[in-house]
Amino acid sequence: MPLQFATRLQNVETSAIRELFKLLGKPGIISFAGGFPDSAMFDVAGLKEAANKALDEEPGGALQYGATEGYEPLRTQLAAFMRSKGVTDLEPSQLIVTTGSQQALDLLGKTMISPGDKVIVEGPTFPATIQCFRLYGADVQSAPIDAHGVDVEKLEQMIVEHKPKFVYLVPTFGNPSGALLSLERRKRVLELAVKHRCWWWKTTRTATCTSARRRPRASRP
Ligand SMILES: Cc1ncc(COP(=O)(O)O)c(C=O)c1O
Repeated sequence: MPLQFATRLQNVETSAIRELFKLLGKPGIISFAGGFPDSAMFDVAGLKEAANKALDEEPGGALQYGATEGYEPLRTQLAAFMRSKGVTDLEPSQLIVTTGSQQALDLLGKTMISPGDKVIVEGPTFPATIQCFRLYGADVQSAPIDAHGVDVEKLEQMIVEHKPKFVYLVPTFGNPSGALLSLERRKRVLELAVKHRCWWWKTTRTATCTSARRRPRASRP
């Protein structure tokens, strides 16, 4: 009897990234498309040392189940790091450690998107994000970009037209565009977030999602 997959999988297409990754197994192929880092860059010695240190000093903690939100000392250090970058009102309890940006994107889709919700992304954007949001039933709309990132005037028009659940941007070295959102546009994006009381999610390859506030802080209860 054929497997009956969940209906939400019916319109899922193959992932362009997975197709690209298949090519990487072939000898002599150096991919500039699939986002594979050079394996020669991996800090094998450093990772070995860190793993050994963790297993020597805290074997139970390193191997045991832990809090779903992530390893508490890491969350504390991450909050301190972000405070050193000027994010002053952040507590470790407001952070979740994920196994990569993709898990954070999936959590975002799972918790925020209901079937039919509009989500605005940049066009082009990271293909796995679109796939993930669609899996949760999002109606994904693309805002145009140029070398300086998203076209903020068009974006505002689209926010007014679509009233999206949230806007997803990759402001620094967008994938696949390589675009860098200019300072002027970053400020405009923040203004739009406050003006339209809209959630924003920004990712980079290594960082998890962050969000601008739905309402200006002053008007929060
Ligand atoms: C913009 C963007 N988001 C998310 C990811 C997935 O990142 P991770 O490997 O941390 O899950 C990538 C990977 O290339 C990316 O470029």
